[in-house]
Amino acid sequence: MKIGVIGAGQVGATLGRRMAEAGHTVSFGVRDPGDPKHAALVEAGASVHGVREAVDQSDLILLATPWAAAEDAVRAAGDFAGKVLVDATNPIGPGLTLLLGQTDSGAEQVARWATGARVVKAFNTTGFEVMADPTFGDARAVMLVAGDDEGACEVVCGLARELGFEALRLGGLARARVLEPMALAWIELALVRGQGRGMAFGLLRRSPG
Ligand SMILES: NC(=O)c1ccc[n+]([C@@H]2O[C@H](COP(=O)([O-])OP(=O)(O)OC[C@H]3O[C@@H](n4cnc5c(N)ncnc54)[C@H](OP(=O)(O)O)[C@@H]3O)[C@@H](O)[C@H]2O)c1
Repeated sequence: MKIGVIGAGQVGATLGRRMAEAGHTVSFGVRDPGDPKHAALVEAGASVHGVREAVDQSDLILLATPWAAAEDAVRAAGDFAGKVLVDATNPIGPGLTLLLGQTDSGAEQVARWATGARVVKAFNTTGFEVMADPTFGDARAVMLVAGDDEGACEVVCGLARELGFEALRLGGLARARVLEPMALAWIELALVRGQGRGMAFGLLRRSPG
C-alpha cells in the first residue's frame, strides 16, 4: 500500500518505519524535508517529502502531529478526496484534559478539515513503544478502530493486524468520542499511576471471539 505519514515524531516514525519494514511504500510528510534528522527514516526504507507531496502520492495517510498542529498539517496537505486518513492524534490540553468530547471529537474535527477523506480513528490508545511491538507473550495489544467508512476501517484493521495488534472496529467515527478519553486513561495509568509505557489495553474472553 502507498502510505503517507504526516509527522515524523514518536508515533509517526515508529509506525512509518514498521510499515516500511512490512513492505509498504511509506512517504513521510514533514515541514522540513531537508533536515538531517530525517535520515534514519530513509535508512528504514521510507522517503521524506513536504506534507502535500507525501499525501498526493499516498492512498492511506496517518496523521501523527500534536493536536495543536493538526489543523495546519491537514490544511497544508491539500486534497484528501477518496483517501483513507487515519487520525492518531489526541486532543489533550493542559492538566491532562480533553479539549473535545461528548458531542464532538478530534477525529470528527479532522474529518471536517479534510474534505472528502475517509477518516478513521486508530493508533491513539497506546504508546509508541507498544506500537513498535504490540505482542505480550501469547497476547496482543488491542487496537480499536472507529470510522464511518466500512472499507476504510477494514483496511486500517488489516494494517493494525499486520503490525501485530488485535484490531477491532468499535463503530462509526463518533465513537472516537470513546477512543480519545481511552487514550487519556492510558496516559494516566502509564505516566501518572506508575504502570509505565510498556502497558497496553487488551481483551479477555471466556469464549473465542
Ligand atoms: N507519543 C505517544 O506514545 C502517542 C500515542 C498515541 C497517540 N499519540 C498522539 O499522536 C500525536 C503525535 O504524538 P508524538 O508523540 O508522535 O508527537 P511528537 O513526537 O512531538 O511528534 C510530532 C511530529 O509532528 C510534526 N509536526 C508538528 N507540526 C506539524 C505541522 N504543522 N505539519 C507537519 N508536521 C508537524 C513534528 O515535526 P517537526 O519535527 O517539524 O517539529 C513532529 O515530527 C499526538 O497528537 C499525540 O497525542 C501519541
